[in-house]
Amino acid sequence: MRRFTRRAGNVAVAVLLVTGFAALGPAAPPAAGTNQPRIDRDVFGTMPDGTAINRYTLSNGRGMKIRVLTYGGIIQTIEVPDRRGRTGNVALGFDNLTDYLERSPYFGCITGRYANRIANGRFTLDGQTYQLAQNNGVNHLHGGNVGFDKRVWSATEIRERDTVGLRMTYTSPAGEENYPGTLNTTVTYRLTRNNEIRMDYRATTDAPTIVNLTNHTYFNLAGEGSGTIEDHKLTLNASRYTPVDTTLIPTGTLDPVAGTPMDFRRPTAIGERIRNSFPQLVIGQGYDHNYVLDRRDNTFRQLESAGTVLDPSSGRVLSIRTTEPGIQFYSGNFLDGTLVGTSGRVYRQTDGFALETQHFPDSPNKPQFPTTVLRPGQTYDTTTIYAFSTAG
Ligand code: BGC
Repeated sequence: MRRFTRRAGNVAVAVLLVTGFAALGPAAPPAAGTNQPRIDRDVFGTMPDGTAINRYTLSNGRGMKIRVLTYGGIIQTIEVPDRRGRTGNVALGFDNLTDYLERSPYFGCITGRYANRIANGRFTLDGQTYQLAQNNGVNHLHGGNVGFDKRVWSATEIRERDTVGLRMTYTSPAGEENYPGTLNTTVTYRLTRNNEIRMDYRATTDAPTIVNLTNHTYFNLAGEGSGTIEDHKLTLNASRYTPVDTTLIPTGTLDPVAGTPMDFRRPTAIGERIRNSFPQLVIGQGYDHNYVLDRRDNTFRQLESAGTVLDPSSGRVLSIRTTEPGIQFYSGNFLDGTLVGTSGRVYRQTDGFALETQHFPDSPNKPQFPTTVLRPGQTYDTTTIYAFSTAG
């Protein structure tokens, strides 16, 4: 139903555009050097087996540019203007493939098949128990040892009237990382004229399985490598969150944020309460929690605002809209000064934050959480938009 609605909407827009063109006559070809959206491609590196990894540079002609790798579907850089029009790269990452292969803490990647944690790497579906990799202490994290972040995706360029994009596909064979079902996955990135990155996630399966996909970009709106994000002001449209045990698995309750340092319903500096002795902050070594979004649509079909982040120094604002029920706020707690980023500077704790739109962690073992089961004939279908603007 939802896909039909969306297609019908596109058809309506297309008819409008065609009608408009007919009335006005064909548009004049863009003069050389004008700011038209464009896509460029280069080779970023080579996998140990010789596979070339391409890098696509998408420019929207309005001062925004993103670079995407076929390895992991990684968003390597996001260049956006600040309040004075000066461009900076707000995504943490590396300038070379080897670092992505050997030491990336999921910078910018597509995370799957199951983003976030599954307790003890185990779940039961239709009476059958599956044991996944325990690659994060006793738990399963971000799809296992070789998740979607470490796969080579096929990319097709998209050129629409005002928008450029990339359609990334990956077919995960049945049994890969011990997940059941062949998963045909498409993640489409679009860079719009309005300085938005739109991400559409689709997947189908030939056998019952579980799926939870997200993007794992770490942001620093003052510029990658410029220091801590503790002064960034975060707002989350969430009155509840899922508290975790000492291994970061949700206990199963949805607790109110009111009266705790977890409350970001009003713009609050990330660092203001991060060293509070509130037990959840001690366990997470900062924020590493799934927030339950306050949604009007609880069928998870409509895009609704999840939150915003403002960097007071540059004036850059990131606003996130999603169809998903949850968002993981991770304050870069495990960045420990051992990684050197794209511009040659070291990343320390809280030098970046991630806001991962998602279904809740450990949903396969928590029947009270929104389901992450996908069955043959169904389409997994979620959308998230990162929109950039400036304030002040
Ligand atoms: C998790 C963190 C983890 C980070 C990098 C986040 O999604 O919540 O616990 O350290 O990813 O792996």
